[in-house]
Formats: sequence, structure tokens, C-alpha cells
Amino acid sequence: MGIILTDTPTRYGLVSVLMHWLIAMTYLGLFCIGWYMMTLDYYNPWYIALPHWHKSIGMLLLVVVLCLGVWRLTVKKPLNLENHLGWEVKSSRIAHWLLGLGVLIVLVSGYLIPTAEGSGISVFNWGTFPAAFSLPGQEDISGLVHRYVAYFILGLSFVHAGAALKHHFIDKDDTLRRMLSISINRNQS
Ligand code: HEM
Ligand code: HEM
Repeated sequence: MGIILTDTPTRYGLVSVLMHWLIAMTYLGLFCIGWYMMTLDYYNPWYIALPHWHKSIGMLLLVVVLCLGVWRLTVKKPLNLENHLGWEVKSSRIAHWLLGLGVLIVLVSGYLIPTAEGSGISVFNWGTFPAAFSLPGQEDISGLVHRYVAYFILGLSFVHAGAALKHHFIDKDDTLRRMLSISINRNQS
């Protein structure tokens, strides 16, 4: 058995698998933090820390998502499985694009909220991402986009996960398995 780094025509490699699960888990974690921190009042001990973590982890996620974007544009992804029907292939392509684009919109709109007043975003006090620009209504509009696109992507990720589980448990095919396992037999491509 050997570990494959890059995608092959039949499998996802280590880079795609690690980035997929890192992004998926971080997205869900940030959603929970974002939703919970909005319920806190000024006197709660987490009032300052949680938004700081939310923004810090979010900016790190932005870097990972941009890396996955470059990876996806340069490395050919595996071919569709033969048992996938035409409508499944088309709808999964649309869903994957929407998920990728939606996560990016949530991240960029998140960045645009606190930077609207010109202040940069500190990442765990290691360093600061500077503010890019400040437009009229930026804070309110990006706040709305951030909230509703975050909810939409959460819903779509449930449909997406449901589809993966349906392929695994009902169709009993390799769809989920090839996004989970990173090793192959050496005589397999
Ligand atoms: C994909 C990653 C992210 C997810 C899933 C996410 C999710 C959320 C959610 C669900 C809320 C609560 C929205 C509400 O109920 O109004 C929120 C609020 C917020 N998020 Fe994020 N967020 C992400 C990334 C970021 C980033 C990168 C930043 C900034 C660097 C950021 C900054 C904020 C701010 C400032 C708020 C408070 C909004 C307000 O005061 O209206 N988020 N986020
Ligand atoms: C917020 C959460 C998630 C996001 C943003 C997300 C996003 C994506 C994207 C963009 C792809 C296309 C990958 C590529 O072309 O390289 C993909 C593929 C995949 N995802 Fe997710 N995903 C999430 C959660 C999940 C969960 C929870 C599961 C399983 C229960 C899952 C299972 C899969 C599988 C099996 C594939 C490969 C599909 C195929 O080969 O056609 N994902 N995901």
C-alpha cells in the first residue's frame, strides 16, 4: 500500500482529501461559533474572545480555500464513477461549484465586515491582515451577505452530505470511500 498525494483518474489524493475535510469541519465549526457569539451580551466572558477566534480561524481558512482553488484549477480531478446517472453528475457539478463559491463569499464578506471602518484583522495576535477599502454601507451589506450565504451553504452541505451517504449506503459505490481513503495498492492507478 502507498499514499498518493495527487488525484488520479480513479481516486482523490492526500492533498484533496485533507483540504476537503479541513474546510468542511472548519466551516461547520465557524458556523457554530458565529451563530453562538451573536447571542452573547457585553458582560459574557466570551464576548471578546469568540469573535476574535471566529475572525482569526476564518482568515486562516481563507488562505486554505485559496490554496484549494489553485490546486483544483491545476490538478485534474478524478473521473465520475460509471454508475453515476447523468442528472447526478450535472447536479453534483453545480453543487460543488456553489459550495466552493459560497464558502469563498462567506469568507470575503466576513473580512469586509470589521474592515469597513478601516481596522485590520488580527489573526491570534500573530499578525494583522490590513483593511483593503471602506465603501458606503459596506458593514451592513457584507453582514447580510455573510449571514444568508453562510446559512445557504450550511443547508446545501447537508444535501451534499446526504447525497454522499446515499451513494455509500444505498448504491454501495465508491463515492464517499474515495473522499476518505488516501492509500492505494501500488499496482492500482
Ligand atoms: C466560512 C467561514 C465562516 C462562517 C461559516 C461564518 C459564519 C458566521 C455566522 C453564522 C455568523 C452569525 C451571523 C448572524 O447570525 O447574523 C457570523 C458572524 C460574523 N462573522 Fe463570520 N463566518 C465565517 C468567516 C468569517 C470571517 C473570515 C470573518 C472576518 C474575518 C468573519 C466575521 C464575522 C463577523 C464580524 C460577524 C458578526 C456579524 C455582525 O456583527 O453582524 N466571519 N459568521
Ligand atoms: C461545509 C461542508 C462541505 C463543503 C463546503 C464541501 C465541499 C465539497 C466540494 C467543493 C467538493 C468537490 C471536490 C473537488 O472537486 O475537489 C466536495 C466533494 C465531496 N464531498 Fe464535500 N463538502 C462538505 C461536506 C461534506 C460532508 C459532510 C461529506 C460526507 C458526509 C462530504 C462528502 C463529499 C464527497 C464524497 C465528495 C466527492 C464527490 C465526488 O467524487 O463526486 N462533503 N465537497
